[in-house]
Amino acid sequence: MKLKLAIAGLMIAIAPTLAHAEGDAVKGKKVFKKCKACHVADKEKNKVGPHLVGLFGRAAGSVEGYKYSKAMKAKAAEIGNWDEEHVMAYIANPKKYLGGKSKMTFKLKKEQQRKDVVAYLKSLAK
Ligand code: HEC
Repeated sequence: MKLKLAIAGLMIAIAPTLAHAEGDAVKGKKVFKKCKACHVADKEKNKVGPHLVGLFGRAAGSVEGYKYSKAMKAKAAEIGNWDEEHVMAYIANPKKYLGGKSKMTFKLKKEQQRKDVVAYLKSLAK
């Protein structure tokens, strides 16, 4: 009986981690199709948005020759380099994240898709 309770307790403890699975780069590649209209991730080429080569660890708002919005420049000065946490928050809702007018009008609402696309972008850097 005690053991059963212990197992039940363990399941409850593990369940939330299972629900929030880690990002999957293979799925993320598919999710990235949504970004492709505006971003290139494997070449240093700007489209509507700046290229995303080496995004993680790169200074926010720093692609040469790309004209960022004022809101992005202000936020970039505040956050410094992009990391997973900031990218996740940004792509969920750029306008809200920047607290001003973003040039990126796209929102990726599903958390799992955000994790997957982040995993994909990270996999490109290897
Ligand atoms: C409709 C076009 C569009 C789509 C779709 C789009 N973006 Fe963007 N993105 C932009 C623009 C424009 C900017 C520049 C934002 C600014 O200056 O305010 C940007 C900026 C960014 C930045 C900041 C880059 C830097 O140099 O600091 C990241 C990261 C980013 N986008 C990721 C994504 C991801 C990931 C997706 C797909 C899930 C995506 N974007 C989809 C247009 C888009």
